[in-house]
Amino acid sequence: MRSDGALLRTADPDDLEALYRFEILCFQEHRFRRDHVDWILRNRQALTLVEDGPDGVEAAMMLLFEGVVCRVLSIAVAPDRRRRGTGTAMMHAAEAICGERRLSTIRLEVSTENLGAIEFYRRLGYRTDGVLYGYYSWGEDAYSMRKTILSAEPVAVRRRPGFIFRNK
Ligand SMILES: CC(C)(COP(=O)(O)OP(=O)(O)OC[C@H]1O[C@@H](n2cnc3c(N)ncnc32)[C@H](O)[C@@H]1OP(=O)(O)O)[C@@H](O)C(=O)NCCC(=O)NCCS
Repeated sequence: MRSDGALLRTADPDDLEALYRFEILCFQEHRFRRDHVDWILRNRQALTLVEDGPDGVEAAMMLLFEGVVCRVLSIAVAPDRRRRGTGTAMMHAAEAICGERRLSTIRLEVSTENLGAIEFYRRLGYRTDGVLYGYYSWGEDAYSMRKTILSAEPVAVRRRPGFIFRNK
């Protein structure tokens, strides 16, 4: 499904250790706790997409479906793989999933201190619709950002466990 041909797969609870290691790799501080990652992997309203590389997980995105809204709980690309379009391609995959599920909106929260991620989302068309003061447990504020999904993009999906997306 990724526009550059890379494969995304859905993660399941067996990916917990790999995803938690990836969380530690990508977030110097304020990362998800292991049990939170486990909760996401087991949540039927959530979907975690992973891109694997030769040395393990290279990118991951966690989505939570809330009615007609898809919430991006987390997105991360391995530090040595950043600024190559991987994050953009994963967000496009999220938008394609929303189109397929006929969801109208993607929303997310991002720390007001995370200037790189804010620029990343802005460039993708996400707009700030509020400031959430003291949103994070460590006290930082967050911007609430959202994007309206206008149309369903075609998405190639294999309906079986494991890899589900492939390039057109
Ligand atoms: C945010 C993140 C997912 C972006 O992934 P990525 O693969 O590097 O993003 P892309 O290569 O698709 O970037 C697309 C554009 O977004 C903007 N952008 C991305 N990272 C940026 C940064 N650190 N600073 C400024 N702009 C940035 C740029 O405009 C970039 O285009 P360019 O490289 O041509 O200038 C990645 O930096 C990351 O994993 N960060 C740590 C985890 C995190 O903070 N996640 C978000 C909060 S949950």
